[in-house]
Amino acid sequence: MGSVDRASEASPSRELGVAMPAGPLPSIGSPAGGPAPERPSARRVTWRSVAPSKWTCLVTGGAGFIGSHLAERLVQLGHHVRVTDDFSTGIRDNLVHLDGQLELLEGDLTDPGVCEQAVEQIDVVFHLAALASVPRSLTNPWATHDANVNATLHLIRASQAAGVRRLVYASSSSVYGDMPTLPKTESAEALPRSPYAAAKLAGEQYVLAYARGGLLNGVALRYFNVFGPRQNPHSPYAAVVPAFLKAALWCEPAMLFGDGGQTRDFTYVDDVVTANVLAASAPADLANGMVINIGGGRRTSLLALLQLIMQVTGREVKWERRPAREGDVRDSLASLDRAERILGYRPQVALDEGLKRTWNWLRSTV
Ligand SMILES: NC(=O)c1ccc[n+]([C@@H]2O[C@H](COP(=O)([O-])OP(=O)(O)OC[C@H]3O[C@@H](n4cnc5c(N)ncnc54)[C@H](O)[C@@H]3O)[C@@H](O)[C@H]2O)c1
Repeated sequence: MGSVDRASEASPSRELGVAMPAGPLPSIGSPAGGPAPERPSARRVTWRSVAPSKWTCLVTGGAGFIGSHLAERLVQLGHHVRVTDDFSTGIRDNLVHLDGQLELLEGDLTDPGVCEQAVEQIDVVFHLAALASVPRSLTNPWATHDANVNATLHLIRASQAAGVRRLVYASSSSVYGDMPTLPKTESAEALPRSPYAAAKLAGEQYVLAYARGGLLNGVALRYFNVFGPRQNPHSPYAAVVPAFLKAALWCEPAMLFGDGGQTRDFTYVDDVVTANVLAASAPADLANGMVINIGGGRRTSLLALLQLIMQVTGREVKWERRPAREGDVRDSLASLDRAERILGYRPQVALDEGLKRTWNWLRSTV
């Protein structure tokens, strides 16, 4: 992966060779396009002026499923993008089409030195790096804690010292656990049911505490069951959509944990990417210190998902029942009121359309 020549930062669109967005994005914390807030003095970098519509962005976990889509969108919008990843679950192929258009810093964010390097001269940090699996966290909670909590605190401290203008944190609907009322609203008590959920909540709360304390400008987005191209169907910890699509592809039985009546709010990855871009530019007086749900806005049972997958793929999928998994929640549906009010976010891609796109991608990989 090549790195972008920093001498050409004044005109990143020419350097990156990509189309510019139709209109400039508002600067962070100044929605009317006014002057950007003054940066606190940085410890390791000398700050240079940045055009309000151009960001220098860090995407942690950018070689992963969601992070690679976000990196791609930011490059398309003409921003300067750096990705930091240790390739523990991410893969190089996810970024190969962006070769030469972004900077890659390979490293483990549990190392504070890697965090310091990663945030050098960065305006906006999108922190997605994590071990993103409930079952994995039950097998090895310490690894999950290290990657999801310790690394987050190192990154927060490095971001504060470097004068980062905003940190957007990838949290998870799993923090709600089995709260009985639906839809799940951000003001409800979090009731995590797994080490993964507890770690995502801890990371999120560090970001929000630093934000409320005036130490760092930060927003946390709670994603609900994200799916789309590049989501790994081969991992033993594969999420339900890629696992069911893979079963359709290879005419294998799908593993159904529990009775199939459990529901999920499936969110297409492009919508999550849009939410991140909106969260980076939302006015600080509305967004700073806030936790915001990002969902698809409808809940679907796993049995209904199987039926839809059969329709979309035109293949019959048989399933084998397995006992419900520890740590899994029964029902999930996001309240999107806050997302709409603060970010102007509304999901754009319906489940069947998202499944079609994901199915087309999966077929193209064989
Ligand atoms: N996929 C979902 O449905 C979903 C739902 C809610 C929240 N999230 C959150 O979104 C984020 C991205 O998830 P994803 O599904 O793209 O997962 P992913 O596993 O594809 O991506 C995570 C990336 O982080 C990297 N990483 C892990 N530990 C690291 C470390 N110590 N240092 C550097 N890089 C490290 C991995 O190599 C990988 O590329 C995660 O924070 C996850 O908790 C995902």
